[in-house]
Amino acid sequence: MTLPTSDKVLELLYDRPEGFFGLAELAAAAGLDRKRLGAAIAAMRDDGYELESSPAHGLRLVRPVKLNARLIERDLGTRRVGRNVICFDEVDSTNDVAWDSSRQAGCDGLVVLAEFQRKGRGRFGREWLSPPRENILMSVLLADDSALLAHDALTIAAGLAVAEGVEASCGLACELKWPNDVLLDGAKTAGVLVELKGSAGRRHVVIGIGINASASPPADKVDARATCLADRLGHPAERIEVARCVLRRLDERVYLIEKRELAELHTAWLARCGMLNQRVAVLAGGARHVGRVLDVSPLEGLVLCTDDGRTLHFPAKSSTLA
Ligand code: BTN
Repeated sequence: MTLPTSDKVLELLYDRPEGFFGLAELAAAAGLDRKRLGAAIAAMRDDGYELESSPAHGLRLVRPVKLNARLIERDLGTRRVGRNVICFDEVDSTNDVAWDSSRQAGCDGLVVLAEFQRKGRGRFGREWLSPPRENILMSVLLADDSALLAHDALTIAAGLAVAEGVEASCGLACELKWPNDVLLDGAKTAGVLVELKGSAGRRHVVIGIGINASASPPADKVDARATCLADRLGHPAERIEVARCVLRRLDERVYLIEKRELAELHTAWLARCGMLNQRVAVLAGGARHVGRVLDVSPLEGLVLCTDDGRTLHFPAKSSTLA
């Protein structure tokens, strides 16, 4: 595949995270003369990429880098997730863009990212707030005609993929909170919103993922403590690398869910949540249920032994911890 010249230059600069590229070296590596290199650099700046020029050292791409579909999808090595990636500066909601694309042939595995959402949504109709260019706002569209992708399984798989992806890319240890929260030191840093439409024969799933990379929502706009990766790292995270790691993990989990191999998902999730046998309060259908957690299962959701001795199942879609 021949890349547009500015994409080629972007890739070369991105792949040298530690330093500058001499202009002569960059032109040679991109196969461009100096005039066309100058045009490619100008096009990148127009497109919003921040480049630092040094007369002595050449050119450097300032990190973290604006989201770029090609940088996310190249050599991703996944089966389905990330087959196609599109990045927008601004949308209403990446989940909505994914849903719009579900009418198109070959949409399976599409990943939609945006630098800003005008109407980002969280669970239970809540707003998902994120300032422009700071965080990861992404949605994965999957065709699920055989209806094998259960809502509970996808919710916990996506949370786990985020936790593992953050760990792999940033070295930060994440915990999970039922059903869809990813926490760092007890503060929420990411959330997952799984939506399903259609029924067996023609069904699609959209997995929306919001990760606070460099900015947390204002404390007065959320009901739980929030944090972001940069606060824990002491420097900004490279969102492209975080997104790639999450997509790889999600792809593996989706594959296993379809094959009904759920044992590892089950144990891996439990190992990160510390909820087994804990006494919790669950909110579901306007009621509050208190009891001991017997299980969190990919197909049955949260299983609670209530204080009055009943065993209740709470699906991810309609329950939350108090
Ligand atoms: C939650 O914790 O309530 C779930 C939040 C999910 C937010 C993401 S951001 C990308 C995608 N698009 C949306 O509108 N929502 C999800």
